[in-house]
Amino acid sequence: MYTSKTDLQIKRIIVALVVLIAVGAVSFYFLRHPRVMDVGYRPQQPVPFDHRLHAGELEITCVYCHTSVETSAHSTVPPTQTCMNCHTSVKRDSPKLEMVRKSYENNEPIPWVRIHRLPEYAFFNHSRHVNAGIDCASCHGEVETQGVIAQKEPLTMGWCLDCHRAPEEYVIPTREISGLDVDPALLRSDIPKGPEHCSACHH
Ligand code: HEC
Ligand code: HEC
Ligand code: HEC
Ligand code: HEC
Ligand code: HEC
Repeated sequence: MYTSKTDLQIKRIIVALVVLIAVGAVSFYFLRHPRVMDVGYRPQQPVPFDHRLHAGELEITCVYCHTSVETSAHSTVPPTQTCMNCHTSVKRDSPKLEMVRKSYENNEPIPWVRIHRLPEYAFFNHSRHVNAGIDCASCHGEVETQGVIAQKEPLTMGWCLDCHRAPEEYVIPTREISGLDVDPALLRSDIPKGPEHCSACHH
């Protein structure tokens, strides 16, 4: 039925398909891998801290724990003292809080794993953004409905610029849960555009 020529062609096609699938699988793995693509990056944390419980149910504002977000470029993760404001009495014997108690007694910070990180050469300032009436949810999603924090946005240059060009499409105005002390006059629809010149973000 088959000539040896078509037989060879079929073999070639099969080899090509196998190579294609292998290359596809490898690139799929690397492109999907959270370390590479980052969106959805959700590392295992040393303490099973739950934003849904603390921010969602207990309605503790974001700035109660992320204190520096209004005043500095970085929004730090809270020191153990902040947890102990409550946990010296609430659930004081819980095994889930073992590492928190140890950290407090030994005066050593909890080794939280950092999730969002820009490369060194890109400059980003939290206070400038949140004081312009831009809610945390614009960039981090509704953290109070997430059990564990995962990265929601790609943090690429294109992502920054999309919003800078058309903030009205991306900005969620300050919400009560953030606890930010923002002038209500800023919460208008005409939020200013962000900069697009290179030196704004690359010093
Ligand atoms: C009771 C304290 C507390 C409150 C309230 C709180 N957080 Fe957090 N947040 C933490 C801790 C602890 C971590 C580090 C562990 C983790 O990632 O879950 C964290 C991590 C984060 C991260 C990831 C940081 C990184 O490494 O990139 C974001 C983003 C964040 N919080 C946003 C929010 C927002 C937005 C709110 C308000 C809706 C909020 N948090 C309320 C304690 C708090
Ligand atoms: C304003 C008070 C308050 C602060 C501040 C607070 N928590 Fe909590 N936390 C609570 C309450 C209330 C519960 C729920 C207790 C319950 O389930 O009855 C809780 C529960 C927990 C649990 C689950 C305990 C268990 O056995 O189920 C963990 C873990 C936890 N908190 C970690 C933290 C960490 C880490 C911090 C600091 C970053 C922190 N909390 C800050 C009030 C607080
Ligand atoms: C305009 C976007 C944007 C808004 C609004 C924003 N963040 Fe972020 N956040 C980022 C980016 C980008 C990073 C990574 C910053 C870096 O690596 O320097 C980050 C990082 C963080 C971190 C990790 C520590 C750090 O500073 O690198 C925490 C915690 C955090 N944000 C909390 C918050 C909270 C709480 C709010 C609201 C009060 C908020 N963010 C509002 C974009 C935003
Ligand atoms: C959700 C919308 C939004 C996103 C996302 C966003 N920005 Fe902005 N950004 C703004 C707005 C609006 C302003 C103007 C604020 C003002 O004029 O008060 C601004 C201002 C700035 C400024 C000038 C003020 C300053 O801090 O010096 C810089 C720099 C900046 N953004 C960097 C970034 C970078 C880097 C990213 C991405 C990692 C980013 N922004 C993501 C909305 C955004
Ligand atoms: C609003 C902030 C912002 C502005 C304005 C901006 N950049 Fe960026 N740029 C970033 C961020 C954040 C990154 C890192 C994330 C990434 O790689 O996409 C970046 C990454 C880069 C990179 C590395 C890209 C790569 O793939 O490794 C280059 C090169 C660059 N920018 C050049 C420029 C030039 C040239 C301009 C002016 C035309 C400019 N940027 C304007 C925020 C900005």
